[in-house]
Amino acid sequence: MNYNLLVNKNNKMKDEYLNEFKLLSVNNELNEIIKIEEETYNHFLMLKEYLKSININIGIDDSYRSIDRQQMIQDEYLIKYGEEFTRKYVAVPGESEHHTGLAIDIMLYINGDFVREDDKLFFYEDIFKEIHNVLYKYGFILRYPENKENITGYYYEPWHIRYVGEELAKIIYDNNITLEEFLNK
Ligand code: DAL
Ligand code: ZN
Repeated sequence: MNYNLLVNKNNKMKDEYLNEFKLLSVNNELNEIIKIEEETYNHFLMLKEYLKSININIGIDDSYRSIDRQQMIQDEYLIKYGEEFTRKYVAVPGESEHHTGLAIDIMLYINGDFVREDDKLFFYEDIFKEIHNVLYKYGFILRYPENKENITGYYYEPWHIRYVGEELAKIIYDNNITLEEFLNK
């Protein structure tokens, strides 16, 4: 399985990528049905279990997205946040790694409710820091870190994690690099 595949502004999603992976339909913590790649999901559950043991509760806001769904999200963001914010945080349809099922947008359970809106999640940087520091142990990377905007093409997204497998996740974490830098693209 090619868990190091790259989808970004210069490397569009290819339909054949989905042939390699098994997408599961699962219920998220709010009982919504989402699709996600199988190994990604299994590792997410382990990450979630560990975080629970240190009193951080997370859920899956979103994982796999079709092209149509990405278009809907882009349209929603344009209305809610405007053009500039949307360009910084939302991939145009066909260029989102959510099309692979290997990316997860995390939501945080805070004071009895799940927080999932981008503008609210930015308040919980301390919690995200703790999450980001253990992601590699479960095969995930923080996909759009701070100060790497010119490399990834997106602003810092504390909620967006990407499954790449434990070995690669550790290399990326230890060297403070992005997937683009690892792949030299
Ligand atoms: N938020 C990321 C860049 C996406 O839309 O895929
Ligand atoms: Zn995302």
